[in-house]
Amino acid sequence: MLKVNDLEKSFGGVKALQGCSLEVQEGTITGLIGPNGAGKTTLFNVISGILKPDRGEITFQGEKIDGSPPYQIARLGLLRTFQISRGLRHMTVLENLMLYPQAQIGEGLKNLWLRWKKIRTQEKALKEKAMHILEFVNLVHLRDAYAQELSGGQKKLLELARVLMAEPKIMVGAFLILLILYRQEGILPERKTIP
Ligand SMILES: Nc1ncnc2c1ncn2[C@@H]1O[C@H](COP(=O)(O)OP(=O)(O)OP(=O)(O)O)[C@@H](O)[C@H]1O
Ligand SMILES: [Mg+2]
Repeated sequence: MLKVNDLEKSFGGVKALQGCSLEVQEGTITGLIGPNGAGKTTLFNVISGILKPDRGEITFQGEKIDGSPPYQIARLGLLRTFQISRGLRHMTVLENLMLYPQAQIGEGLKNLWLRWKKIRTQEKALKEKAMHILEFVNLVHLRDAYAQELSGGQKKLLELARVLMAEPKIMVGAFLILLILYRQEGILPERKTIP
């Protein structure tokens, strides 16, 4: 599904990636392990289009994606996870998810007046989808909590949920395996209490 061939990326004199090749099969969880500074984050950034490689090829479902901008790669269904961004910390868990899908009708001011019925239907469907995903990542009980109130592990689960809202074909990023194990084992970090 995802093929990386002979990737190279340097920052000045630092060769972050050299001769990096790997393949990820559909329906699998593939882990990448390495010490600090090994180049893992650089690889994720290159795959998702945030950084351009100095050489090498990346194909996703047979399509060449190296050199494409991140939004184009994301549209193909390759999404990466990030730390939760600051702007979203003051929104609730549920709001964070409902914000995610692109091109909502309610975003246009004109549509707001003319198509409010359709907007309501879309919002309802979105909410249902968001609740379904929150159930999957074990965060339903925190749907009305502000994102900033979540523990580190829960923030990661929220980030996973946000990416799932976009129905990705493949996800790339740190700690995904940990998240899936958290969910399966039910070892969820407790919610942080703010004094
Ligand atoms: N934007 C940058 N400018 C200069 N050097 C960079 C940049 N990003 C990464 N590097 C260097 O590239 C190398 C690989 O870094 P990278 O962050 O990819 O490693 P990592 O495997 O993700 O490490 P960690 O486990 O600490 O997250 C390091 O030597 C780092 O200092
Ligand atoms: Mg890293």
